[in-house]
Amino acid sequence: MVSESNGYFLLSTRSTSLVLSTKFSSHLTLAYYGPRIKSLEEVPSLDVKINFPKGHSVLSSSYSLDALPLMVSTPGRGDYFSPSVVLSSSLGSVYDFRYSRFETLKEIPSSPFPVPHGANEELVLHLLDEKMGAELELHFLVYEESDTLGSYIKINNLSQRELTIHKCASLQLPLLNRDDTFLSLYGNWSNEFSLEEKPLVHGRIENDSLSGASGARHNPLCLLREKGATLNDGSVYSFNLVYSGNHLESVELDSYDDLRLQVGLSSFMLEKKVAPGESFLTPVATLTYSSKGLNGVMDNNHSFVAKSVIRSSFSSKIRPLCYNNWEATSFGFTKGKIVSLMKKAASLGMECFVLDDGWFGARNDDSHGLGDWECNEKKLPGGLKALSGEAAKLGLKFGIWMEPEMVNDDSEVFKEHPDYIIRDNVHSPLRGRNQYSLDLRKKEVQDFVFGAVSNTLESADISYLKWDYNRPMSDFPDFVGNFSYDYILGLYKVLTRLIGKFPDVLFENCASGSSRFDLGMLSFFPQSWLSDDTDSYERERIQAGALLGYPQSVMSNHVSAKTSNQVLRLTSLDAKFDVAAFGVLGYELDLNDLTSLDEKIIKGQVEFYKSHRELCQFGRIYFVQDRTSYDPYVLEATNGKEAVVGTFKGLEKPGNKVSSLRAYGLEDGVYEYSTRVESISLKKFGNLVNYISPIHLKEDGALIDILSRHKDMKSEEDKGLISSSALKGPGAVLSEEWSGLGYNEKTRLLGDFGARLYYLKKKE
Ligand code: GLA
Repeated sequence: MVSESNGYFLLSTRSTSLVLSTKFSSHLTLAYYGPRIKSLEEVPSLDVKINFPKGHSVLSSSYSLDALPLMVSTPGRGDYFSPSVVLSSSLGSVYDFRYSRFETLKEIPSSPFPVPHGANEELVLHLLDEKMGAELELHFLVYEESDTLGSYIKINNLSQRELTIHKCASLQLPLLNRDDTFLSLYGNWSNEFSLEEKPLVHGRIENDSLSGASGARHNPLCLLREKGATLNDGSVYSFNLVYSGNHLESVELDSYDDLRLQVGLSSFMLEKKVAPGESFLTPVATLTYSSKGLNGVMDNNHSFVAKSVIRSSFSSKIRPLCYNNWEATSFGFTKGKIVSLMKKAASLGMECFVLDDGWFGARNDDSHGLGDWECNEKKLPGGLKALSGEAAKLGLKFGIWMEPEMVNDDSEVFKEHPDYIIRDNVHSPLRGRNQYSLDLRKKEVQDFVFGAVSNTLESADISYLKWDYNRPMSDFPDFVGNFSYDYILGLYKVLTRLIGKFPDVLFENCASGSSRFDLGMLSFFPQSWLSDDTDSYERERIQAGALLGYPQSVMSNHVSAKTSNQVLRLTSLDAKFDVAAFGVLGYELDLNDLTSLDEKIIKGQVEFYKSHRELCQFGRIYFVQDRTSYDPYVLEATNGKEAVVGTFKGLEKPGNKVSSLRAYGLEDGVYEYSTRVESISLKKFGNLVNYISPIHLKEDGALIDILSRHKDMKSEEDKGLISSSALKGPGAVLSEEWSGLGYNEKTRLLGDFGARLYYLKKKE
């Protein structure tokens, strides 16, 4: 809801309000952002009081701009924070934007950037610098249900001179007298979404990407946690950018402890020229606030992404359980191998077979054939059509991997079109994973990519496409900032065309994992491969970091072989499943290598997942104990009447404390709870197995190997009744954990990186 009175603008969502003011010499300032207020009459009590200028300052109509909570700040008129907007023309580089008028829109104007859908209203504030001939439109989109606001800027060049954009943050949020911590997520390949929480320092903290893509290095998501805010209480703010290229989030604290947070395009080497009469547009930044701690703000983010970022037709659409052959076969497969994997996948209850890299051109390793999107019929006689037919016979859907934005130099397409790739025409272009990036700014390259994907999707019965992007950009032929901006607009053009032509295909985003995981890509791709790291312990951390800003329904998580390809850690199939179940489950290990016991275990997992899939994919997520401060880490997905709770242990140690099962967000009532009984390998006990074995078994002997392929032990099973209030309080006390002193069927044997899932249901 948007209302205006007396120079104030009130934007209200279900539980929050943001108030803007034009009182201070028509500069646009923030009067309030926090829990929802009742009316604009309250605002004078909430707004900042300024009678005297700051010492050692300059004045603009009796105010020092430096002291004002400015929503837009430019250099050169007495504001000494890092500016949010930097422009220049032949007249100079000092701009002073003042409020001139506003309008509210019901129809959201079309944009070359993805704009989150379902906004209730849009407020446009027009700010003007008549002398410089420039207008700045600050747009606010209101998403009431998810307590989220979108913000973007349009600069209109009203002058007769060319105008240059050097910086244009989509959002600046000024907050006064703060004592917060700043949360951001850093990472790299196979190691994405590491959470870092640091106290604000006097000066600036920046979170950005310069690789051409939003990047695993620094995801655009960031949060501010007010001192004392916990998992369920206290003020937390969250920010993001609906954009997939170079971005910059910064937070600056001055000596008065006043803060300005900015979210937007990276300004690194941005030099965008705007001709007279033309405009420049930024992508949409998002902001949300909750007084209910980290879990509260996480819920706002999840409902916003699911309802307004993901395309409506997929918002609440159950995602299929996929089998992907990458970790099982890499490039080395035959049609026979693929069909045998399909048969196994179908027999274990999987629903879609995804054929990963290696099916096209001369692609038998990563240095050949990328870009030649014709099926290699020597490898796969009958092509994709025959394979999708085999899948259909088994009741499986069929999916395919592509990496449309790249080519190998050893490819037909590169030989024919060397001009398609990004190169600066001075240096020889660099390879990453033996490949070059295509220059998607060019119309002919956009057409090539669209044609390649379109022809592939039409060549067989394909309902799923994993779109990969496996190297960062280099050799920019233009200013780095301009190039990234234009490239991403080119990419969005291609994606818009493809989504329009294939609205029902499930597109999965991937960039060697999460190297381009952001709200821009999620606007086209309902789900994303979260990380190439499928080790269960690493994956818990990666998923926990991503969950702060993105719902589990967009995270594709696969169970892979027991020994992780990435960190060589050995964990059980059950521990891997327990982690992967919080999201879109899939499998990626060689199904032909499974023992009969493994097959039984996987069938049990698939059955559990299918019976609770809606909860696992779309339930409200709570951190019951967060991953950074607690061991075990406890995660819950609930619909208010049922819940799946996962407990995830780090390192085992003797003398374990009492553990209990706790859960939030459940309706008042009594709940039945039970453990998902897991399989415990006989090998877990080492030499101790001889306490119960009638014959002596050597720890590394062949006999224990053979036995453990066919026999396992069942985990403890906790079950009982408990009220929702007790679940929020002390919780149900679980079976005693292994402490090295004895074992029976009631012992909760987790060991290093062990996990359990519990299912809770309201008793009728
Ligand atoms: C990337 C992806 C993997 C796989 C390979 C194929 O690394 O993240 O899942 O698809 O490419 O080359």
